[in-house]
Order: sequence, then C-alpha cells, then structure tokens
Amino acid sequence: MWHFFKRVLLALSLLAWLLPAGAQAPRERINIDRDWRFAYGHAFDAGQDFGHGTRAFFFAKAGYGDGPAAPGFKDAGWRRVDLPHDWAVELPFDARGNTNHGSKAIGRAFPENSVGWYRKTIDIPASDRGRRIALEFDGAYRDSVVWVNGHYLGREPSGYSGFRHDITDYLDYGGTNTIVVRVDATVEEGWFYEGAGIYRHAWLTKTAPLHVAQWGTFVKSTVAGGRAAIEVDLTVRNDADKAARFTAEHRILGPDGGTLASTRAAGLGVGAAATADSRQRLALVNPRLWSLDDPHRYVLRTTLLQDGRIVDTYDTRFGIRTVAFDPDKGFSLNGKRIKLQGTNNHQDHAGVGVALPDGLQDWRLEQLKSFGVNAYRTAHHPPTPELLDATDRLGMLVIDEHRMMGTSPEIVSQLERLVRRDRNHPSVILWSVGNEEWALEGKPLGTHLAQRMHAIVKRLDPTRRTSVAASSSGRGTSLGADVIGFNYGAQHDVDAFHRAHPDKPAAMTEEGSTLTTRGIYVDDRAKVHLNAYDRQGRPGNSLSIEEGWRRVQERDWMSGMFVWTGFDYRGETTPFGWPAISSQFGMLDTTGVLKDTAWYLKAWWRPEPMVHILPHWNWPGREGQPIDVRVYSNGDEVELLQDGRSLGRKPMVRDSHLRWSVPYAPGQLEAVAYRRGVRIAGTEVATTGAPATVHLSGGMGGLAADGRAVAVVWVNVRDREGRLVPTASDRVDFAVSGPLRIIGVGNGDPGSHEADRPAERHAFVPLSGWRTLALNGPDAGPDAGFAVAPDADMTNWRDPTQWLPPEQQPPRTPYMVLRGQFDRPRLAAGQSAMLFIDQLDPGQQVHVNGRRVTPEMVDGSPAVPLDPALLRDRNSVAYVLPTPADGVAGLFDRSAGTSRWGNVRVTTAAAPWRRSLFNGWAQVIVQSTGEAGTGTLTATAQGLAPTSLQFEVR
Ligand code: GAL
Repeated sequence: MWHFFKRVLLALSLLAWLLPAGAQAPRERINIDRDWRFAYGHAFDAGQDFGHGTRAFFFAKAGYGDGPAAPGFKDAGWRRVDLPHDWAVELPFDARGNTNHGSKAIGRAFPENSVGWYRKTIDIPASDRGRRIALEFDGAYRDSVVWVNGHYLGREPSGYSGFRHDITDYLDYGGTNTIVVRVDATVEEGWFYEGAGIYRHAWLTKTAPLHVAQWGTFVKSTVAGGRAAIEVDLTVRNDADKAARFTAEHRILGPDGGTLASTRAAGLGVGAAATADSRQRLALVNPRLWSLDDPHRYVLRTTLLQDGRIVDTYDTRFGIRTVAFDPDKGFSLNGKRIKLQGTNNHQDHAGVGVALPDGLQDWRLEQLKSFGVNAYRTAHHPPTPELLDATDRLGMLVIDEHRMMGTSPEIVSQLERLVRRDRNHPSVILWSVGNEEWALEGKPLGTHLAQRMHAIVKRLDPTRRTSVAASSSGRGTSLGADVIGFNYGAQHDVDAFHRAHPDKPAAMTEEGSTLTTRGIYVDDRAKVHLNAYDRQGRPGNSLSIEEGWRRVQERDWMSGMFVWTGFDYRGETTPFGWPAISSQFGMLDTTGVLKDTAWYLKAWWRPEPMVHILPHWNWPGREGQPIDVRVYSNGDEVELLQDGRSLGRKPMVRDSHLRWSVPYAPGQLEAVAYRRGVRIAGTEVATTGAPATVHLSGGMGGLAADGRAVAVVWVNVRDREGRLVPTASDRVDFAVSGPLRIIGVGNGDPGSHEADRPAERHAFVPLSGWRTLALNGPDAGPDAGFAVAPDADMTNWRDPTQWLPPEQQPPRTPYMVLRGQFDRPRLAAGQSAMLFIDQLDPGQQVHVNGRRVTPEMVDGSPAVPLDPALLRDRNSVAYVLPTPADGVAGLFDRSAGTSRWGNVRVTTAAAPWRRSLFNGWAQVIVQSTGEAGTGTLTATAQGLAPTSLQFEVR
C-alpha cells in the first residue's frame, strides 16, 4: 500500500513540477452526450424545416447558418434527449416503410420523420484560449451536417464512420457556444434496419497545440522466445504557427500502473501546422498474452514534452497476441489453433434500436459467449468504438468490416478512419473490405478494387490480413484480398476453390440464414412465425446450422464459420415482407433469448456438459399426436423419458442431434445425457398450468448512478407451481420509480407492431403574418385594446421582417404591439398545444385571441398552454412591449427568422411502457438517471399477481 502511495505522491509531485501552476491537464476528453435538444425537421419543406436554407447566402457566406443552424435560433420547446439517440426506433411501424429497414415510418415516403435536428450549447472557459479543441462524433445515421456558432463545418455522408471537426477557430472563449447537427436519414445505406440520429457518443477533445494526433499511436508487437518486441508508431500534430522540437516518451504500464518498459526520444521535430511520425521500440519479457480466456491488455502511456514541460499525455490500450490465418491449418491465436465460432451481427437491439448504451454491448457479447461464440463480424460497417472495447475486454475475436468497396477519396477516407481507429484492438483479427459486391464480384474490377483496398489497409496496418466476403468465388473480389470469405457453403465449391488457390486461407464469413422464430414449433405464416427446428432457410441455397458447422469441422483448412446471424435484427424480413418487421436469421431473437439453434451450437461450442430439449410441452388439443422432439447435448448418449418412462437411450454423433417422435400427453419430458456411461447433465420440459404471476429477473444487483448504466430485465409469467409458461402472451405494463428510467421494451416477435420505445412527439406550427403597430403605452386606451383584438384590421401595420431605410421609419413610440397568427392546430385525442415564446421584455404582455394570458416557465422557456376550446380557425398572438432601443428592426434576426417570437408546439404524449410476452418472454431495459437511491421496476398484467424488482443505484 505504502508503495502505491509513494508512487502516487511521486507522480503528483512530478506533475506539479512539470505543469505551470494553475494549468489544466494537458489533454481532456469530455463526453457531451447529455442534454441535447432534438426536433424533427423536414426533408423538403423549408417551413417544416424551421426555415433552414431560406436565408439569403445561407450557404454562401461564412457564419450564415440559418434556421436551427443559427446560434440565435430559439429551440424552446424542443425535446431534451441524451445521446446515443435513435429516433427511428421511436417511430411507428407503417406498411409504406421499407420492410428491409423494419417498416418504420421513415424514408422517402415520410419526409416529416426523416430529418432530425440536434442542438446543444457548451460553455468554453476563457482559459481554453490557445488550446486545440475538436468536436468528435463516433457516428450519426446519416448524411449529417455540423455547424458551430452558425458556421458550417462540414458534412459526413456515412452513417457509420466517426468524424471530427477542429473547432478551435470558431469558439467564443469565455462564452456559450452552439453546436448544431442536422441528420438526414431519408436515403438508406444498408439493407437492414439502420436507425436514425446521433446514435453513438459525442466528445470534445482539448489538447495543447502540440499533441498526439487523433488515433496517433499504433502499437505493434511480435512475440518470440518469451519476449515481446514492441514497436510504437507515433504521429504528432503541431497546430502552432511555428515549428517545434519535442521529446516523446512511451511507457508500458502494468495492471497496477507500474512501468514495465519505457523509451524516450528527445530532439524530435515537427513543422508548423504539420504532423511528424516517429517510431520507437520497447521490449517486454514474459508478456502476458491477450487470449480468449485471459483478454489481458496493457496501457501504453505516451507523454510529449516541450522544453521539459508535459504538453500531452495519451493512453493507448493494446494487447499482445499473435494471429495467423493459414491456408492449410486455418486460424490460430498465440500459436494455438482455434476454430472461429462466429456470428455476424448488425448493431440494433430490441427496445433501443441502434442507440446502444455501452453496457448493452457487453450484455450482448455475454449472451453470444454463453453459447460458445468466440468471433464477431461487424456486418456490414465500422462498429461503434465501445463494441471493440468490449470485445477486447471480454475476449471475442472480430472481423472489422468497412462499408462500401471503392477507392474514391470519400470511401478511402472512411476506410482509413476505420483502420486508424481500430488497429490497436487486440480483438480485431481481420479487416473486411467488402461484402457480396454483386456488381463486380465476378469481374476483374472486383479483383482490382479488392487489391487496391488491401494495399491501403496494409499501408496503415501491416500486421493484419484483409478479406472480402463473397457470394461467388473463383473470380473477382474473392481473389483480391488475403483471406477468402465464403458467404454460404451452398453457393460455392469451397473444395475446388481451395485446390485452385492452395495459398489462400479461408473462412465461412456467412453461413446459416436459417429462418426460425424463437419459441414457435408450428409455422403460422399469417403471424409471420416459422418453426424453430434447424433446417435450411433457402433449401438448396443455404445450409442448416448443423450442416454448416459440420462442413467447417470436416475441413481443417477452414478457419471457422460466422453464422448469419447472432441476434435477429429489425428489417430484412425474409421471407415475408410486411407485416413482419424483423429478420429471423438469428441464433437469438432481437431481445437476446436463445433460440434452439443456439442450444445446438452451445452443445458443440462450449465445453460444459449440457442437454437441451425442444419443443416445450404445452400442446393442448394435440393429445395422442406425435410431436417431433429433438435433443441437443455434448454427451455421447442421451436418454429421453416421458413421465418417468424411458423412450430409449441413443448414441450422439459428434456435431449432431437426436430425435424422437413422442405422442403428446400433458406431463413431462426429461433428457439425461451421459458420457462414458456417467450422467453428465439433465433437463426437462413440463406442461404448465395457466399464468398466475408476473416474474422479473436479470439485471440484479446494483447500477452505477452515472446516467449510463443499464440493466436488462427479463419478463415472464409463472403458473401456480412457479413454472415459466412458454406459450404466454400476457400484456405487461411497466412503471419505474426512483433514479431509474425505462429506455426500451421488446419481445422478439418478428410480427409485433407494439411500440419499442414510446416517445413524446412534438410538431411545431410556425407563427406567420407578423405585423407591428406603434403604441404610446402598454395600456394606451382604445389603441391597445384595438391592437390586440382578434379581428383587428392590420392593413396598415408594419411588417417587422422587412427592413426600412431610416427616413421611412415611423417615429419611435415608447410601446409597440407585435402580432402573429397561426392556424388552428389539428389536435387528436391525447394531443395538446402550447405557445412557446422568447421573453422579449420583462414587461411584455401576451394576448391570445384578444385575451391576456400569463406565460409560465416550461423547461426554461416562457410558454402558454392553449385551451382547444378557445382556439379558432385563425388565431392571433399579440405582444405589447416597450419598443426596444434599436427600434422594430432590432427585434428581427434574419438568421434565426421569427423563431424567437414564438411557435406553437403540438405534443403527442408518449404511450405508456408496456409489452406483450411473446412465447413467454419480454424484455425491459432500464437505465440509471444519474442520481443515487433505490429504484423500483414494477410489472403488472391483468388477472396476474404483479411483481417488482429493486435496484440499488449508487
Ligand atoms: C447475405 C448478406 C447479408 C444478409 C444475408 C441474408 O447475402 O451478406 O447481409 O442479407 O444474405 O440471408
């Protein structure tokens, strides 16, 4: 302990010595996820897009960002959201939506739902002057445009690439600064649910002018003879106006923070506004290797010093391991052969869409690991950085995939960002530069592009190999990269390819695409439900999970297989289309409940003894009829018993399953697995009674009071004997109290149109027809009364948005009336309307349809609830106020339009949190709100005993 304190004291005193008094840490990375304002814009109607793109020179002059992009724009009444945020998941399902994207009401047919505006203000202290400040987004779907303080910064078309803007030059130091992002999800990138909005984290990074460049370290290692040789490539950026000399120091830290190895290079140089690369070497004796069982990571701490002062400290987590793809022996990690037991995954989850809290990344990986998955392909785009932190931490190998093949500057920039960002992750074993590029897959162009992209990747990362996943092989893309990725064995003669290309390592980058609904054992196509027995999804075109895995097992040279998919995902509703809303390819449903195929894999992918029976044993009305019973186990024999009577003991062939035909009778089926005659596992399915109580489980224990931590809670119902009812479909209502919020609900039913994430929705009705009239006083007798009357004749009133030369301006009076109007908002049941105004003057009167009203403060802005009974077809809003010092013209800000004078917000309240069970299961995801205390989640269902679950949030 004392050693630890000594080390801390030493570090502190060193820091105190090196940093000038009062200086901040040289580098800060500040998460800015919280407290954004969000509103829907419009894909083509400027009025509904808050007037954006209508101000003269809005895109022609620097600092002319208009509408919400203007700093002066009033976002009063906009919804507060925290990132990550996916607005698509909040939208209803609609037959006009794209079934490939999960039939959400988004896309070309829904211009009112396809554009989202995000606004946030940040305070930048005066002491930040002189630092470099960058705004970083890990990803926004898609086509996002960023403004800071009204200045256009740039556009990122990709929905998957992280992007960054150095905003140093645009900031008001010592003031409040406005960040605005317009995100446009009208057009799609993939053929699966992709979400919408800023669905990954956002950051501010502050550094000294001389600093480690973004992703500016690359730690490579080779291991031989119990020693790791480590090479660190460093890129330093100097944003100062003159060249600089500096010292770079690298230290490898052990788990206790102690230095295991270090190196220092003095006298390095970098030009003004330039970057400089350097390379240094370190060595570690007896390195602790990163592996699946011991995913050990080291920290490389890089310190930059200028004139003896620390100007930057930058940590890089890395792992030391060796990876090989061999054409004959397949894949190995640290010299040990491992079959890749992989799944492909998109990034959405039940309830939350693509806006996954970090904790959910871990949770999903643990679900995959629970049935033996050791590899993950990020189909078909760069993943969120936290996914790779989790795969590093939890021990899961990754094929990291780029979005689109090509060599245009835009595409190359995305590829470079992917590789630079991810190359220090020990979990990443392969770069994928393409997937089933049908237009060029069989053509020389395919080979050429794959080779060009391979070369780009190799320049940035010579330590890993590249791959392209191909639906046809022998030509085109399949020849261009290092490792051939076969998508679907049935589409290739993999053995012929292997003979023809004996030097090419191979993996089944996709296999399966089986179509099964979790918990369903008899097809019900009207409900888009397909039985969960393992079989070919597209007979003749793809294999069952068992056939696919056996084929891989039979070939030593095949590195492994990536099942299409791990989790079901929204969209790609094969073979149904509407009204199906999610795919059924998964080994788990969208909530993460294991399907029976996952249990098959578990039998052969996990070492623990196990046995699993399908189907459930609730078949009222089918008494006496034969039921197809299958058993998965890694025993060498399994015995099946019905109500205690043996139905026979059968030998299990490796990588296979057992089957019995059992006449149904209410009761119990039991399976007992044996290895060399010794019982190793047992399980049973039993006929249950009717649902009696609601049951919540999972997510037990504490939650961090950080506003981010999540708990994934399972919802089931039990019969009187406490058995989970596997066919239950009760609708369950949820409520939370204490420092908890619900962020999503799901049930894994590919046909369910229940809300995933009910959210409050706002529509804004702009006020128009603004006119002013000069008054002598606030209650200037008949004058004022007339001026606020609903039917006042305003023919000769002044249009305050029009500029008048001084000589034409009427004489200034002490008071004035400013009037606008709005049409009667159409209010459906459950909707309410509210007038939001900027407080123009403390003494300002507000009149609606001639009645004086007193604004109340709603979420920080003055607002007036509008009583529908008092609304007319045309409504007037009149403000009586002292004339501002600079006259009527001073009221109007061309960039922000008339937003600050008021608009009418129509609110559709969020629907309640509820979900029906699907075959016995539903899921609620709860999150800490940030405060500490005890939180309670309560679940109630009609006719059943309710239940609740408590969380200590600290
Ligand atoms: C593949 C494709 C995947 C998915 C799958 C469905 O061709 O790469 O993204 O569409 O088929 O079977």
